Amino acid sequence: MEEQDRSSQPRPPHVLIFPLPLQGHINTMIKLAELLPIAGFKLTFLNSHHNHKRLVKFNNIAAHFERYPGFEFKTITDGLPLDHPRSGSWFLDMFEETMEPKMKQSLREVLVNSSPPALLLMLQRRLESPLLFFCTSSPCSFWVYYSIPDIIQVGELPINGTEDMDRLITTVPGMETYLRCRDLPTFCRKLDIEDSIYMKLVVEQTRKSLQADALILNTAEELDEPILSQIRTKCPRVYAVGRLHAQLNTRLNAKHGESCDHISNTLWEVDKSCIFWLNKQPNRSVIYVSFGSIMSMSREQPVELWYGLLNSKTKFLLVVRPNSVIGKDGEGEDVVMELMEKSKDRGYIVNWAPQEAVLNHPAIGGFFTHNGWNSTLESVVPGVPMICWPQFADQHVNSRVVSEVWKIGLDMKDVCDSKIVEKMVNDVMVDRKEEFAKSASEMAKVTNQSVNVGGSSYSNLDCLVEDIRIMSL
Ligand code: UDX
Repeated sequence: MEEQDRSSQPRPPHVLIFPLPLQGHINTMIKLAELLPIAGFKLTFLNSHHNHKRLVKFNNIAAHFERYPGFEFKTITDGLPLDHPRSGSWFLDMFEETMEPKMKQSLREVLVNSSPPALLLMLQRRLESPLLFFCTSSPCSFWVYYSIPDIIQVGELPINGTEDMDRLITTVPGMETYLRCRDLPTFCRKLDIEDSIYMKLVVEQTRKSLQADALILNTAEELDEPILSQIRTKCPRVYAVGRLHAQLNTRLNAKHGESCDHISNTLWEVDKSCIFWLNKQPNRSVIYVSFGSIMSMSREQPVELWYGLLNSKTKFLLVVRPNSVIGKDGEGEDVVMELMEKSKDRGYIVNWAPQEAVLNHPAIGGFFTHNGWNSTLESVVPGVPMICWPQFADQHVNSRVVSEVWKIGLDMKDVCDSKIVEKMVNDVMVDRKEEFAKSASEMAKVTNQSVNVGGSSYSNLDCLVEDIRIMSL
């Protein structure tokens, strides 16, 4: 992926990247947005006004992207007023009716006015038909979404309200031996699933995205091989280029030397004090507890978690995002703060952590996670075993893969009970510590090799870059 000599080469391709306005999507897409200018491409990164303001406030992005002459940020509305609190389940509640139509319209205006014309468009599904579709969630969830009509057709869905949720779903090729009813996305739990507008939308968009010229996935061949080969039966050009963050490190080191780091892209103010706290803890003694950028909890759930963590005797680092515990005017978080006051010697709490640095810290021995795809990969790369507490979207499938296929963690799915929390933390951090550490470190090794020169993800990215050049001629 050598940078082009601009004097002797044709005009570089112009790629426009547009993530959904969420931290998890921006995290992944901004990595690809940085990788393509390394190959000499012109790149436009389209952000919502609201998120861009936060990106600028909490990261030194201007200085960072100055090193890429062809890189520019543009912003559009996300359809909500700038002062909208965007808390609780705002995204799930507002996306379809309020946000999507306005975003679509603004996106089209940007495309029409892009100069030179944006030859390619990559974005999360729904808003436009991309030439290249970049799926920021997991390949296994993508494949399950695709397969839902087949599961319904053979009568394995709907799920009867009284039946065993551990019943195997045998219709999804490649997942016949481990996918259970409870591992399907939560909208599959509804008796009237066939009438579900949400289900129809997800399936339609997944199938539509397979009509793109190519599909880009943030995974490595070695991690998801059985599912990638299934997806390739529907879309022959699939580029598994992940984990993108690690891929970017390899490319930046090669180009600028070891000291060059990629940009942080946080949308909340990072509390780095937790790293100083971690520095004082013994190796692999702390469990990191964090549930991503969207999930919210009822007031009871953090209490169960807290008692479970406390009784487990393991030290913990807990993230409680502002407005993520349901209750009026921050009173939800007050419950957590009161509990934490009582357990200062056992845990440390922050509003937002430098998650990657935390997961790479030697004091961390486990990750209590909701299994968003970024969090899952961020745990795989340093070889940190997981306790999975999935909530929605791809998370239920991801947690099943983590526990049953990769065997690098335990799946707590569907319960939040202090006794179970205590047992799982003890299993991962004490009783079965060596077993999980071994499997997680083997998986980390394979994943990390894929982004080295000659590795599968490294070579796939080279192919993607070449194909984009050809497509844009
Ligand atoms: C959403 C969906 O929920 C998820 O299922 C899908 O796979 C991607 O989009 P989110 O819930 O935010 O994402 O989870 P995740 O994908 O894990 O992304 C969260 C990101 O926030 C991670 O990259 C993580 O490093 C970052 N984060 C989280 C922090 O930097 N600090 C924190 O304290 C918590």
